[in-house]
Amino acid sequence: MIASMEVGTQRIRDIVLSLRNFSRMDEADFKAVNLHDGIESTLLILQFRLKEKTERPEIQVIREYSELPLVECYAGQLNQVFMNILVNAIDAFEESNIGRTFEELKAHPNQIRIKTQVIDNQVIGIRISDNGKGMSEDVRNRIFDPFFTTKPVGKGTGMGMAISYQIITEKHQGTLECISTIGQGSEFIIQIPLKQ
Ligand SMILES: Nc1ncnc2c1ncn2[C@@H]1O[C@H](COP(=O)(O)OP(=O)(O)OP(=O)(O)O)[C@@H](O)[C@H]1O
Ligand SMILES: [Mg+2]
Repeated sequence: MIASMEVGTQRIRDIVLSLRNFSRMDEADFKAVNLHDGIESTLLILQFRLKEKTERPEIQVIREYSELPLVECYAGQLNQVFMNILVNAIDAFEESNIGRTFEELKAHPNQIRIKTQVIDNQVIGIRISDNGKGMSEDVRNRIFDPFFTTKPVGKGTGMGMAISYQIITEKHQGTLECISTIGQGSEFIIQIPLKQ
């Protein structure tokens, strides 16, 4: 019992630390941070949506992290962007998994790939891709529009990508792009300058 309480308290400690790291409430302004820490705390907060369920195996997260220097940014806001993209990917799996059995999904798992790199010593690139349901050209063209959603009323507000676009382009002078093929998956490409 003591051992299981220890595991439990350790888990709570990790989650609280992650929430603090995720929100970075204590440091609202521009600061040089390790982006991988932000991505990892976002993933930990989303653990309950990634783990195995009765209807599907665990969603696999494949990390292709490069050595990154500290990046000057609004860390809490960037974490919000990671969160929006990752939640959308998980939602996209829910739709593409319809009609597929646990065994089929085990053979072709839901995968999220996160790739980081430094480009020409001055730009940080973060690519987040999923092999979920993908989107049509029409949806892709409107993805950054405020209030654009294909989700049922009450589920999505359609603001996730609009806010993310604003955070990347206006607050960080970066770019946010989306590539997608219907039925195959989607990829989001974030680029932000290393120094503002
Ligand atoms: N990874 C993805 N795969 C497939 N479709 C996506 C993906 N990401 C976004 N979309 C599409 O873009 C739309 C807009 O996304 P956005 O995050 O802005 O809003 P939302 O997820 O519908 O609502 P919320 O405001 O709660 O995030 C989604 O409704 C969905 O149709
Ligand atoms: Mg969303």
